[in-house]
Amino acid sequence: MKKAFLKTFGEQNVRTYPIDEIRYRSDDGRTLEVVNDLRPMSREQISRLKKLFDKRAQSWKPIDRSGVWRYREFLSAFKPFDEVVTMPEGNTPIFSMPQCARYVGMKTLFAKHQGMNPTGSFKDNGMTTAVTMAKKLGGKMVACASTGNTSASMAAYAARAGMKSIVFIPHGQIAYGKLSQSLDYGALTIQINGDFDRAMDIVQEVCNRGTIYLLNSINPFRIEGQKTIMIEMLHQLGWESPDWVVVPGGNLGNCSSFGKAFAELEQCGFIKKIPKIAVIQAQGANPLYNSFVSKDPALRPVHADTRATAIKIGNPVSFEKALFAVDISGGLVEQVSEEEIAAAKSVIGLDGIGSEPASATTVAGCKKLVKQGNIKPDETVVCILTGHLLKDPDYTVEFHRDELFLDAKRASSVAGTKRISAEGRNNRPVQLEADTQVILDYIKKHGF
Ligand code: F0G
Repeated sequence: MKKAFLKTFGEQNVRTYPIDEIRYRSDDGRTLEVVNDLRPMSREQISRLKKLFDKRAQSWKPIDRSGVWRYREFLSAFKPFDEVVTMPEGNTPIFSMPQCARYVGMKTLFAKHQGMNPTGSFKDNGMTTAVTMAKKLGGKMVACASTGNTSASMAAYAARAGMKSIVFIPHGQIAYGKLSQSLDYGALTIQINGDFDRAMDIVQEVCNRGTIYLLNSINPFRIEGQKTIMIEMLHQLGWESPDWVVVPGGNLGNCSSFGKAFAELEQCGFIKKIPKIAVIQAQGANPLYNSFVSKDPALRPVHADTRATAIKIGNPVSFEKALFAVDISGGLVEQVSEEEIAAAKSVIGLDGIGSEPASATTVAGCKKLVKQGNIKPDETVVCILTGHLLKDPDYTVEFHRDELFLDAKRASSVAGTKRISAEGRNNRPVQLEADTQVILDYIKKHGF
């Protein structure tokens, strides 16, 4: 059996490297991808493998229980699977969202909630594989730049693996839920004076110079793990592809991994139809959107600004891979405003699910795409909710108090509006006297 190897992403001037060579870019500075040992499968092989996946889902063995390692036939880079670092992650539910469906103008709408992962975001799917590779390569110290979720996930998995971790975060720009995690999991947490894009530059320089292993999604082993978000989704849907998968876009690792998953599944004959991938960006952090609408394949970085701090990224590392994912799926890229994100987030809450702001770009984007006629009301759509509601409680409380400002510090640094209007969708907390009758009268008056 052939071994997996690394290659430069794209078709031109392709270079290949051994799977265990520590590098994050090719010699000419391009991103890398894992080439797996995959080949077309017969109908019998496919049916056997599907049964094996069903069987593993019933098992309590961590490697089978994990919604990542369960699908290890698509993760040949990590063979042998004898030292996986797993929590175990994945197994995230698919919910139907009736309130959101009504809001966007569709019959039904589904959400795969990646916020139900061990550290509360989709990053765990890629961190289990990347930290496993760090361990195989003999890594003792790992690092990442982050808007908060990658750092939370990395710090947790590094701690589980007995490694030291260092996180680089933009000072004052990440949500407290996330900051609290990297502190509690014991990471050296360095707040830099600068934005995420600057932190990303610095962490790459630091890792290129020393013995610290880089765990941002430029690391191709992160992308490998995140592929399983789509494999698990298809498993949950009885291997029937939905028409659309809608995903937020920041550093663009996640949508890239979805494109890779679909390409590999199709290559093996596992799926007949590739779902269209819709990547949704915040209007204030929209380089992929700009490229898509202007049909200009060059990355033109922007100065990013949005209260959805998870995706406050202007110079995404996986830009080319994301364009490929959109292209092979026949998908598209859309952008949404701060008001659209806030409103959509409140409707996700009303479905009893909740999410962090960046995840709500999906429902906001869906609404726009239905209105434009790009998504038909009776199509099957799965929104990927990337992070848990409790990651960024400040945002939610400020929204419901109708005190949500574009700049969290309430300075007017951002063009246009300072305040993000709740448009009457807020559920303001009420303060009442500690008196039973007063409270009962209030409840009666408000019709509950
Ligand atoms: N949603 C959430 C909740 C995120 O944390 C991120 C990225 C994204 C969406 C965007 O995903 O980068 O793969 O396009 N967060 C990173 C971090 C950048 O550092 O936690 P992407």
